[in-house]
Amino acid sequence: MSFPRDRLRRLRGSETLRRMVAETKLSRDDLLLPLFIVEGSGIREPIASMPGVCRFSVDQIVDEAKRVADLGVPGIMLFGIPSSKDARGSGADQADGIVQRAVSAIKAGVGDLCVITDVCLCEYTDHGHCGLVEGEEVLNDPSVERLALTALSHARAGADMVAPSDMMDGRVAAIRSTLDEHDFENLPILSYAAKYASAFYGPFRDAAESTPQFGDRRGYQMDPANRREAMRELVADFDEGADILMVKPALAYLDIVADAKETFDVPIAAYHVSGEYSMIHAAAEKGWIDGDRAMMEAMISIKRAGADMILTYAAADLAARLES
Ligand code: PBG
Repeated sequence: MSFPRDRLRRLRGSETLRRMVAETKLSRDDLLLPLFIVEGSGIREPIASMPGVCRFSVDQIVDEAKRVADLGVPGIMLFGIPSSKDARGSGADQADGIVQRAVSAIKAGVGDLCVITDVCLCEYTDHGHCGLVEGEEVLNDPSVERLALTALSHARAGADMVAPSDMMDGRVAAIRSTLDEHDFENLPILSYAAKYASAFYGPFRDAAESTPQFGDRRGYQMDPANRREAMRELVADFDEGADILMVKPALAYLDIVADAKETFDVPIAAYHVSGEYSMIHAAAEKGWIDGDRAMMEAMISIKRAGADMILTYAAADLAARLES
């Protein structure tokens, strides 16, 4: 009879041993919470397709931001849902727009919290595309101009970081130079660099009322089939001055997260998107999986792949369960 000399089970025998040899640990510092803001007051409206996630009016968002900061989550990402939309997405860069008011309120009311704003037009356009359209074409350069002004308006409102998610070419460079021209040279850009045209955004589009009214986003977001092309997107945003590079979604794109980590010396973010979040909740509600464990496992896998920060709707819940 021959027995193995190497017994990998030796280091799995107790909780203490497992703690000692754990290669990846999730910390509250790794997490960022996306939040949705709507017009009105006194609103904390649950989103049906995203269990545990609400839309908040500006007066309510400050309390929520405080709660999140108290739980030890270092930052939030704000998405605005305006009450009126038009073809140009005029609401996106208004000084008193929904996001701009939320940013000022949070910065005035909450001490230590990094307030990041999503920079995109899709929540503000009546056609639901991330840029300006002509006929059925989504225009690049005119959209980039609007996006740069939107980022500037967020900076003026007091945002700590801006995060373009539109996937137009050249927008990081345009945002960087617009910010620099207006004395915001110290404001970092977190770019959604490799963002795929994903079915996993379904619940978000309900929440943000940003479903395209014609066509889809495959003319600007990436094809899920492509890995080498992601490198070109990441290189472009890095060269244009992005301070943090993001891959989105996370779980179906862990190879891209690993590639990004391997190649760039900037922090890498990954966005565990609405569909990834809601699938876990839906399966847990049916009693098919342990939702808490599955959520933690998803986070660990994203971190193990190389993410330095994870955007997740579970950030506050997870922070409450983590020690530091
Ligand atoms: C909009 C935007 C989207 C998400 C973040 N920013 C949706 C989209 O591109 O259609 C998705 C987030 C999620 O699903 O959680 N530019």
